[in-house]
Amino acid sequence: MSAATSQSAAARHVPVLLQAVLEYLTPQPGQIIADVTVGAGGHAQAIAERLGPTGTLLALDQDPTMLTLAQRRAYPCRVLWCQARFDTLPAILAKNSVIALDGVLADLGVSSDQLDDPRRGLSFLQDGPLDMRLDPTAAIPTAADLLAQLNERELAEILWRYGEERFSRRIARRIVQTRQQQPIRTTAQLAQLVRSCVPRRGRIDPATRTFQALRIAVNDELGALQRFLECLPRCLRRGGRAVVISFHSLEDRLVKHTFRQRDLWLVLTKKPVRPDAAEIRANPRARSARLRAAELLASGT
Ligand SMILES: C[S@@+](CC[C@H](N)C(=O)[O-])C[C@H]1O[C@@H](n2cnc3c(N)ncnc32)[C@H](O)[C@@H]1O
Repeated sequence: MSAATSQSAAARHVPVLLQAVLEYLTPQPGQIIADVTVGAGGHAQAIAERLGPTGTLLALDQDPTMLTLAQRRAYPCRVLWCQARFDTLPAILAKNSVIALDGVLADLGVSSDQLDDPRRGLSFLQDGPLDMRLDPTAAIPTAADLLAQLNERELAEILWRYGEERFSRRIARRIVQTRQQQPIRTTAQLAQLVRSCVPRRGRIDPATRTFQALRIAVNDELGALQRFLECLPRCLRRGGRAVVISFHSLEDRLVKHTFRQRDLWLVLTKKPVRPDAAEIRANPRARSARLRAAELLASGT
């Protein structure tokens, strides 16, 4: 099998807004850039090609299986691999003796490779255990644990806040009723439960919002993003660039508000960059992507 064939067989995720990422990150030969959500390595590889043999890519992901997948690609620069959450970036830079980065990319959420693996419990399309931890080695409650332990009000709050689910209370009530009969442990059980109490509208599966909300809660995705955005000025050099792609309005709001701090950031994208119709046709998972970029005006160190 050729290298190209084995690579495409390995990684299913298609990098979103790739040209815009390169345009705003502007990787140059010899620079040090961190891809803090390396995933299947699509963006990382394109960045590495711009960095060249004198450049360094810090490739970070909290999911060890994604790092293994990303490592199958060829990177024509030095690569520092790191399994960690991106809100620990300052400690990782210190450990690797990196003083300041020239650029940082964060492409939030999950990769298609994680979504399509039923063992991860992220998708309602295939049956699997209700896990949803993006780092399967992390000692944190799984989605099944949350469904078993939270009270009705707490469950409804998660579904409303992170999923903007109009029927949050109804679903939470049904979860509590169901778990009194039997534990909710699989994605098929949960998807069926939601579909049984939420009317179907259009082409979107009624379980979509519930699954998204639980994943965000299990992984504390908004908390991690907030901490990451706060530590960025201590990680970049003056003039260094941050590019963030979000897939959820709450994430995008955090990014927008961070870059609005005029003493710290020069906004490079007045409006978020969205994929065009051709990209959405080729990669439907890109449809809710929004890219924002900014340049650091004053170092936070
Ligand atoms: C959308 S994918 C990235 C895809 C990647 N840009 C590519 O081209 O293949 C998001 C990745 O971020 C990782 N991730 C999500 N939250 C994270 C966090 N707090 N810290 C580190 N990695 C995280 C996920 O495990 C996943 O691999």
